[in-house]
This record gives sequence, C-alpha cells and structure tokens, in this order.
Amino acid sequence: MEGGDSQVEMKLSPEMDEEVGTNGVGEHLKHHRESYKKKPPRTPKDICFLIAATLLIFIIGYLIGYLVHRKQDKTLPPCDQTEAPVSVLDDEDLSLTEPYAPKQLDWKDVKSMLADRLTGSQIDASLSEFSRNDHQAGSPGDEALANKVLKRFQENNMHTWTDEHNVQLQLPPASGSNTVTFRGQNLGTLQGYLAYSANGTAQGPVVYAHYGQTEDFDYLKDLTINLSGKIILVRAGKISFAEKVANAATMNASGVLIYPDPADYALSDTTHLFGHVHLGTGDPYTPGFPSFHHTQFPPIRSSGLPNIVAQTITAGMAKTIMRQMGGRKAPRIWVKDEQSGVQFKLGDDSDVASVEVNNVLVETSIHNVFGVIKGVQDEDRYVVIGAQRDAWGPGFAKSTVGTTLLVELAKAISNMVREGRFMPRRSLVFASWTAGEYGSIGATEWLEGYLTSLNMKAYSYISLDGVVTGSGSFKASASPLMSDLLSETLKEVQSVSDPQKNIYAQVAVANGQISLLEPMQMTDPAYPFLTFSGIPSISFQITGEQASGEYPYFSTLQDTRDKLNTATSGNMVQLIRAAGQVAGHMALRLVHDHLLRMSVDTYSKVITSLIIKIIDKVDELQMSGQLPSTITTDWLSSARGSYGRSARDLKRIIQDSNLEDVEQCRKINDRIMRVEANLLSPYVSPTTNPFRHILLGAGPHTLGALVDHLEAFKSSGSGDVELLKKQFALATWTIQSCSNALAGDVWDVDNEM
Ligand SMILES: *[C@@H]1O[C@H](CO)[C@@H](O)[C@H](O)[C@H]1NC(C)=O
Ligand SMILES: *[C@@H]1O[C@H](CO)[C@@H](O)[C@H](O)[C@H]1NC(C)=O
Ligand SMILES: *[C@@H]1O[C@H](CO)[C@@H](O)[C@H](O)[C@H]1NC(C)=O
Repeated sequence: MEGGDSQVEMKLSPEMDEEVGTNGVGEHLKHHRESYKKKPPRTPKDICFLIAATLLIFIIGYLIGYLVHRKQDKTLPPCDQTEAPVSVLDDEDLSLTEPYAPKQLDWKDVKSMLADRLTGSQIDASLSEFSRNDHQAGSPGDEALANKVLKRFQENNMHTWTDEHNVQLQLPPASGSNTVTFRGQNLGTLQGYLAYSANGTAQGPVVYAHYGQTEDFDYLKDLTINLSGKIILVRAGKISFAEKVANAATMNASGVLIYPDPADYALSDTTHLFGHVHLGTGDPYTPGFPSFHHTQFPPIRSSGLPNIVAQTITAGMAKTIMRQMGGRKAPRIWVKDEQSGVQFKLGDDSDVASVEVNNVLVETSIHNVFGVIKGVQDEDRYVVIGAQRDAWGPGFAKSTVGTTLLVELAKAISNMVREGRFMPRRSLVFASWTAGEYGSIGATEWLEGYLTSLNMKAYSYISLDGVVTGSGSFKASASPLMSDLLSETLKEVQSVSDPQKNIYAQVAVANGQISLLEPMQMTDPAYPFLTFSGIPSISFQITGEQASGEYPYFSTLQDTRDKLNTATSGNMVQLIRAAGQVAGHMALRLVHDHLLRMSVDTYSKVITSLIIKIIDKVDELQMSGQLPSTITTDWLSSARGSYGRSARDLKRIIQDSNLEDVEQCRKINDRIMRVEANLLSPYVSPTTNPFRHILLGAGPHTLGALVDHLEAFKSSGSGDVELLKKQFALATWTIQSCSNALAGDVWDVDNEM
C-alpha cells in the first residue's frame, strides 16, 4: 500500500502541475479515479464472485484515490511558486480555480495592480478622515483614530488585534506653564515643552553653544569657558534635542534652552516647539522591557534620561536674550548663521537666566493597532509596515500622511489578494503606533514585549512616518541590506514633478554617484527596529530642496494640511501617492519574490570600510608609540574576510539555486534574515544598552565607540588598553559569528581564523 501510494503520488504531481492552469485539478483527479475503476481483472468464473470482487476492488480503488488525494493535500510542496497553492486541490474550491489561473503574477502586473488601487481621490478622502488637531498619545482623539484604523482594517477582512501598554508620558504643567526669565525679565508664556526634562529650577549665566554638538562644546572648552552651572542656549537642528541636552549635561551645565533659528527653520518668531529629551526610545521608566500592566519590575530609569532641566523657547525669545548678551564674540564659523540685527556673543557672568520646569509624569494607557494580510506559503514570515498615529498638535505631515498611507496600502493590497489576483508568499503586518512623539514609545514597547516572538519572523520594517515634506528631493535611512531594494524601487516609481523620469533619475546627482542613504538617527522611527531588534528597516522622505532637509513644521502647532500643501507646491496628494508606491513596491517585492531581495554584499562593503579605518588608526598609533604593539588587528581583519567570503558564497548559491525548491529557498532566506540580528552584540544588556547593533546602534559595544576610543588615544593619550582589547575581541567575535551563521550549517563554517 505504502509503495503504491507514493508511486501514484509521484506520477500525479507533475501532471497536475501542467494541468492546473488549464483544465482545473478536478477533471484530472476524476480521470484518475476512473482509471482505478477500470482496472479490475476479468476472470469470469462465477458471476457472484465477479460482482463481489468488482465491488471490493472498486472500494479499495476509491479508497486509494481518496487517500492519495488527502495525502496530496498535506504534502504537496507549497513552494510551487508558479503554480497553484495547495488549497485549490480541495474539491469545494474547484470552482474558484478559474480566476486564480495566473497563480503568481509577474512583478509587472503586481506593480500596475497596486498603481490602479492606490488612487489620489481615496488618499485625499482618508487625509480628511484622519486629520485632527487633538490626537496626543492616549487622548480620546488618539483613541478615536485608533478605532477608525481598526475599522478600516476590518473592512478589508484583515485579521486585526490591538495591544495595550501603560506608559509614563511627561506632560506640560497641569496649570500655568514653565517659565524662563532672563536678567529678571519673564520671557512670556511657553506653550512648547520638552518631555522627560528634569523637574525644578536652574539658575545661571547663559552661554551660547551653537547646535550643542560635541565639537561646539569642544570649541568652548578650548576657549577655557567653564560651563559648570551654566544655562546653555542652543539652536535646534543637526542633532536631536536629547543629544544636545546629554552633551550639555556632560559639561556639567545646569540647564538647556533650545530655539529654532530662522536661518534653519522658516518659522515665525512666535512658533513654539515641542520635543522630548530622552536619549533612547520607548518608555524611559521601563528600559528594555515592556510596560504591560502586569510587568512587575523594580522602579528603574533609562540611563538616557537627563538630570538637568531643558525647555524650548521661541525664536523671538532667543532674540531677546541674544540682544542683551555680553561676553566674547562667537567663533567665526558660527557667525555666518547670525540672524539679521542680532550678534552672537558667548555670554558673561551677568547674563543670568532662570529656567523653571514643572512637567508632570502621567501614567497613560496607549494602544497600538494591527492588521495582517497572511501569506500563502510562509505565513510565519512577515514584513511590518508602520506609521505613527499621535501628534502634539495637528501633526499633519508627521502622522496624518503616514496613517492615511497605512490604511490605503492595506486596502489596496487586501483588494489585490481578495480579487484572487495576487498571492503574497509571506505575510504583511500593518501597524498603527502611538506615543511616537515621546520617542517611538508604542513601537518600542511592542518590540520589547514580543522580541522573542519576532525573532526570525519579522524580517523587514518599512516606516511611513513623515514620508512627504516637499517635492524636490529624496532621502532615506536604512539597513545596508535594503539599499538595492530601495534603488530598484525608485527606478520603478514615476517622479511627480517630472513625469518623464522615475524618482531615481530625478534625484540622481550630476556625477552619477547617488547616495540615497543617510546614517539612521536615534530619532528615526525605524531606529529601534533596526538597532534594538535587528530587523532590516527603512525610513524615507520625499523632501524639499532646503539645505537642512528638515521640514520646519514638525513638532510645532503649524504642522497642518495648508503648510504641507504649500511646501509641496500643490502636488501634495500625488506626492503622497508616490511615497505610497515606494513603500508598497518595497513591501510587495519582499512578499512576492522567492528569495528575499536583500543585499548581504552591501554589508560586506560597510564592514570592510569601517574595519579598514580602524586598522589604519591602530597602525598610525602604534607607529607613533601611542599604542602598545600587543594590540593586534589580525583577528578583526580575518573576521572581515570571513564575512566577505560567506557573502560571496551565498551569492553563488543563490545563482545556482532552483527557485522552485521550497526548502532550499527557505534555507537561503533564513540565512539572509539572520544577518541583521546577528550583528546585535550578545555581550551587552538591552536594559542598559538597548541599541545593540554593533554597526548602527549606540553604546560602548559599537565599532563607532572603538573608533572614538582610538581617537582618545590619539588626541589626549588617555585610553584604557585593557578595555580596548576587550572592545576588539567582542566586536571581532560578533562579526565572526555573523559570518559563520551566514555561511550556513556548522559543517560549512569557514575555519580559517
Ligand atoms: C567651574 O565652575 C565650577 C562652579 O563655579 C567650579 O566648582 C569649578 O571648579 C570650575 N572649574 C574649573 C576648571 O575652573
Ligand atoms: C563635571 O563634574 C564632575 C563631578 O563634579 C567632574 O568630575 C567633571 O570633571 C566635571 N566635568 C567638566 C567637563 O567640568
Ligand atoms: C514635577 O513637579 C511637579 C510639581 O512640583 C510634580 O507634580 C510632578 O510630578 C513632577 N514631575 C516629575 C517628572 O517628577
């Protein structure tokens, strides 16, 4: 019986493959059953016996047919990507096989299908539906939007769910406002504030510190200006608010004032700014673990919370301060950014300001909303597409555009699937996050809560936040694994301002060398996905031509539809649609192709260039005798070589692979998927160093920190040789482990080390 079974099955499969598209499986199976019926031997001895035998054989035949059919159902490899998925073998489904005929669509058809379903008029309608002025995280407005998103997902017949977190948000004072006085004069009502500032009053002379970057403070140090106990006045831009405050705190300053300078931001003198100063993401009172109600953890604070007060002021208030400031003139390189009529001085001891902050910490219940379109082959592998839903103020460009695209993409792709025209191989999870304004809290808490469940399952994150802020240019931040996917995608999406060109051609710079990717900042909504969870991630923006590339209205009460309309010269809806196509193409590619479209090669280049930099530095320091010769870079070099070889080998395997072989495809995809997660350092704790990625994360375990340490040897001769050795060893081994895993099974590992 067993042997017969498998024989029949083997014979059945290829034939069926041929026939699925044309005849339908039903006809074929019936055929087989009939042939069993015809087989009975004809040895007429006794009529009765004949009838009984015929009947018996008929029953056995029928049973075999039935069993084969059943077994077929269970064992037919689902990887037959060009052909029907398993379920069409069910008799009940036979009627459905006709419309499913072209099982896996050509990519060309998938693209045009999405383009047809993502329409400007629907986007426009959703923009109106999802825009409102009162949707701060956890507020009734935010909840109302959450319900709308949920309803829209349900209307698409998506499987939906929500998750709840109880997080600590810092809100402005319950009554009155924070106050800033300068030379005894109150500067006025402060509408904006900086969440997670310390509480209390700081008083001291004001010192102007440009953007508050490390090099700015170094400059002040060189001028032997003692910053201890001072109030630092800095302008917004270049680095995050949290970094400015952290830099000031290391100088022992007592407070920080941040203002938007007209040279950087085209805002009025009276525009208030909001922001947060937690140097990290997620709820700062539950670092590294989720804020579920039932999590019983001892009270703990993120190391990224500042101990000094910080407050935003308007450009007008900053002007008031600067006009009266004494002291030295600011360095020449800072002066070019001076506002007309205001001279930058560094301040002297009589320029005393007082900053009083009384923000309140409020435990707030927040909800993320999810919907999934399940894949037909690898349901347990998913791309996550997400958008921030909350905002301080209207947040039109920041949250309404993203939320709109989230529901519209979900609808378009659900339609493609429901109409039976498109079958994603893997799943697509759509997520609407809240408390993004306070440092990606909703998203981070979700990652913290489900880190182990997401491991090896979520293989990509695409952020829809702030995707349109202008019309002239394009920029993105992503894992190197996704760089090729991005450039291919941009070649497929038509530019809005120049319809003769695709976006890639439009933004390609003159010399043909296009650099689309910028380093990903901690404030990027994709940052925790990439550096905390090790999920290859991307965020992108169709931006204006402005030099800083920053949209001035983010985190102000002026982030409205009108402002975005003006910034995009009236092409707003078309640009949003184009951004939706960029995100949609990337997501669909990742669930359509047999193999994940990720370039392990590109990482090889990134690792190589970093390591070469390190080796050069070490050589230089050893030559000048600043570093003992006991430090060796051979290991690091060899780990780099090993990664390169593994990447090349994998590329060869991919070239030789048979795409119809499900098991092989899955194995290859597993290897590709692991790369990012394997670059998370296993040697640091997520509660103290959540961003464990050794190349793109933050903390003492990163190659960046290693470079800084070498710099310290060079500039001041102050370094810790033992610590340096440890940094070398751990970084080396992290890269080596990553390349071992990329190489395949333990018996394939490259042992040359
Ligand atoms: C800087 O000022 C603080 C407080 O005024 C003082 O304690 C400290 O010694 C000063 N540091 C230097 C290097 O002068
Ligand atoms: C800040 O204060 C600490 C402790 O008082 C001191 O060790 C450190 O050197 C100070 N840093 C600067 C930059 O003055
Ligand atoms: C700050 O102080 C106010 C009142 O003084 C208090 O209600 C609030 O909880 C404090 N906030 C924090 C973050 O400690």
